[in-house]
Amino acid sequence: MRILGISGSLRRDSTNTRLLTAAARELPEGVEMEVFDGLAEVPPYDEDADADGASAAVTRLREAIAGADALLISTPEYNFSIPGQLKNALDWASRPYPGNCVRYRPAAVMGASRGQFGAVWAQAELRKVLGAMGARVIDAELPLGRSHEGFAEDGRVRDPELREQLRALVGRLVEEARPARTAA
Ligand SMILES: Cc1cc2nc3c(=O)[nH]c(=O)nc-3n(C[C@H](O)[C@H](O)[C@H](O)COP(=O)(O)O)c2cc1C
Repeated sequence: MRILGISGSLRRDSTNTRLLTAAARELPEGVEMEVFDGLAEVPPYDEDADADGASAAVTRLREAIAGADALLISTPEYNFSIPGQLKNALDWASRPYPGNCVRYRPAAVMGASRGQFGAVWAQAELRKVLGAMGARVIDAELPLGRSHEGFAEDGRVRDPELREQLRALVGRLVEEARPARTAA
């Protein structure tokens, strides 16, 4: 089984990207995660450009999602919401509607922020957006606040309770993806 991780931050030392790496270490046996590395290349959404044929960067994004059994997105919070580039990429992924690459795909959301709340508003908005696109969104959040202090030297989440929450979240995502995998 393959999970596609997407970090909503383009920052080199992004704590959201680190949270995905930490999540990969909590996956059950036989489940792999690839972290998508092409977010920065996705152009601004334009319906004309979409009708003319998507660019290589967009095709890569759509194919990466279509080839995964489930999605795990870690988002920062920018001004109480989803970072623009992540929303933009999801807008591309949402088309053509309703037969888009995200439809019926299990998806889970996490968030890391420098402040204490762990991007909970951005996570709520991201779950809403994924739901609008037709994903099967896990109804749970994973807030890593003060994320710059949130990781142990081995890359795992430092707080044992949150680490347990992270393991439970990826476990739920894998369980949600299993029936589709079995049917395929
Ligand atoms: C444009 C901008 C807006 C931000 N707005 C918020 C916010 O509304 N809430 C919050 O908790 N943090 C906010 N932050 C701080 C982010 O939580 C912080 O930059 C975080 O580390 C980003 O995640 P990353 O480490 O994955 O890059 C903002 C940062 C930027 C650059």
